[in-house]
Amino acid sequence: MTKQLSQQDRQPGPDHEAMVELARQAMAKSYSPYSDFKVGAVVVSRNGSVFSACNVENASYPEGTCAEAGAISAMVMAGEQRIQAIYVIGAGDGLVSPCGGCRQRIREFADSTTTVHICGPEGIRKSLLLDQLLPYSFGPQHLNVTQAD
Ligand code: THU
Repeated sequence: MTKQLSQQDRQPGPDHEAMVELARQAMAKSYSPYSDFKVGAVVVSRNGSVFSACNVENASYPEGTCAEAGAISAMVMAGEQRIQAIYVIGAGDGLVSPCGGCRQRIREFADSTTTVHICGPEGIRKSLLLDQLLPYSFGPQHLNVTQAD
C-alpha cells in the first residue's frame, strides 16, 4: 500500500535563492590565481544537507581541483552518498556547466532525479538533469556496486 505523505513528511526541494547565495559565497573564496576563473558549487544531499566548495588551483596546474569535487568530498565526509541537486556558479555570460570530469564525479552519487543548476551571479540560468549532461553514463552498477540509499 502506498503511504500517503502528510505535509510534514514531504521533503521540500532546495530553496534556490538560499542555495545560489551559498554558491556565491563559495565562489568568493575561490583560489584561482592561474586561471582567474572563480567557481563555486553547492551540493544538496538526499536528506537536504548542504555542502559548498570552491575551485582550488595549484602551481602544478593538473593538481588543481574543481569546486564540485570539493563539495562532493565534504558530502561524503559527512556520511552522505546521494546528490539531490548541485548548484554550480561562475562569472561571465556563458553557462558554467560542470566539466566532463565533474559530471562523472556527480554521476557516482546521482540518481535519475539529480538536478544540476547552472548559475550566474544573478541566479539560476539553466537546470538540467545529470542524465541530460551525461547520457548513457558509466556508473557503479557496471561494476556491480550498489549505490547507498
Ligand atoms: N572549474 C571548476 O571548478 N568546475 C568546473 O566544472 C569547470 C572548471 C575550475 C577549474 C579551474 O580552477 C577553473 O575553473 C578554470 O578551468
